[in-house]
Amino acid sequence: MDSPKTLKMSWEEFHALPVEEKGKCFFHRGKLYHTIFAQQFDREQLEGLSELATRIRQIAKSRAGMDFLQGLLSHKRAMLYFQQPSTRTFLSFYAACQILGLKAAEVRNTQTSSEVKGETPEDSVRTFSSFFDVIIMRHPEAGFAEKIAWLLSNTERPVPVINAGSGKDQHPTQALLDVYTLIRSFEERDGIDGKTIVFCGDLKRGRTVRSLALLLTNFNDVRMYFVAPEELQIEADITEALERKGVKYDKVYSLSEVVAEADAIYMTRLQDEWDVAGESRKLDLGKYNFLPEYLQRMKPTSVIMHPLPRRNEIPVEVDKDPRAVYWRQVRNGMWVRVALLATTFRLDELIFQHYEYHNR
Ligand code: CP
Repeated sequence: MDSPKTLKMSWEEFHALPVEEKGKCFFHRGKLYHTIFAQQFDREQLEGLSELATRIRQIAKSRAGMDFLQGLLSHKRAMLYFQQPSTRTFLSFYAACQILGLKAAEVRNTQTSSEVKGETPEDSVRTFSSFFDVIIMRHPEAGFAEKIAWLLSNTERPVPVINAGSGKDQHPTQALLDVYTLIRSFEERDGIDGKTIVFCGDLKRGRTVRSLALLLTNFNDVRMYFVAPEELQIEADITEALERKGVKYDKVYSLSEVVAEADAIYMTRLQDEWDVAGESRKLDLGKYNFLPEYLQRMKPTSVIMHPLPRRNEIPVEVDKDPRAVYWRQVRNGMWVRVALLATTFRLDELIFQHYEYHNR
């Protein structure tokens, strides 16, 4: 696989570019190379990736299909560099690598790497690029994955970088699986266009909400409600991006107000790991929990989502309602990540051809 040669500028110059310009640099010859933020994706790409994920899960149902998938990247290696805790993202990427035959290694704790001896994270990741063919990374610093994509693109051995969560900023692959879940949930209802999406919880520091709100601007007439106390409300950079795209949105201060109107309710937990001194734990979040009584007021066709992990914002008794799709999100995440890795390695056409050939 060849690689982008378009980032020949200093980090400061690159970082200062408008996000749309930077996004273009992460493609190469019209194909996705680095996956860093949600603004890289348009509707065609989102629908293509979703279709690919569905084809892959259909192919994977048979042993012959799995053998085909596992042969696709058996000559490649992946590094999972996770500097923040993770269950779903880490393991679904790990499983996705296994499905494609991609051999995965991991660094999940810098105490076991030479960063303890003072090596910079930049040098650590550059070292990985000597041994591996793709780097999947989660890091507490917003913009670090972008910096690594820029850095590696300017080396003799560039490899694709996939952002698996960057600070409070973005979590693009979670948003891809969320869009895939919405596409599948609304298959019989004209898709995502025209739907009302309610985001609830810690919207200030919830990177999944930020990435998903940006991805949903690719669909027509989507209305958004942001339900959170003022201290945790969605940041201005997101609402300004929505305004530029003509998306209608409102900030709301009680989930109860918008339950009946929602086509999807996207719950999130308190992200108090970002607190300086436990300040958000003092907030009264009662109005931002999903109460079982809301099930009666919701549309029969609406869905309840959550990127997980959860705390008490959705009681476990809600799980058995068929509109609760958060466990399906988890499973969808693995298939979307297989599709993303396959696309990154330019295997999408081959997979579609395989599916067509075997389903004539
Ligand atoms: N949704 C999500 O990112 O979960 P993990 O933190 O467990 O990866």
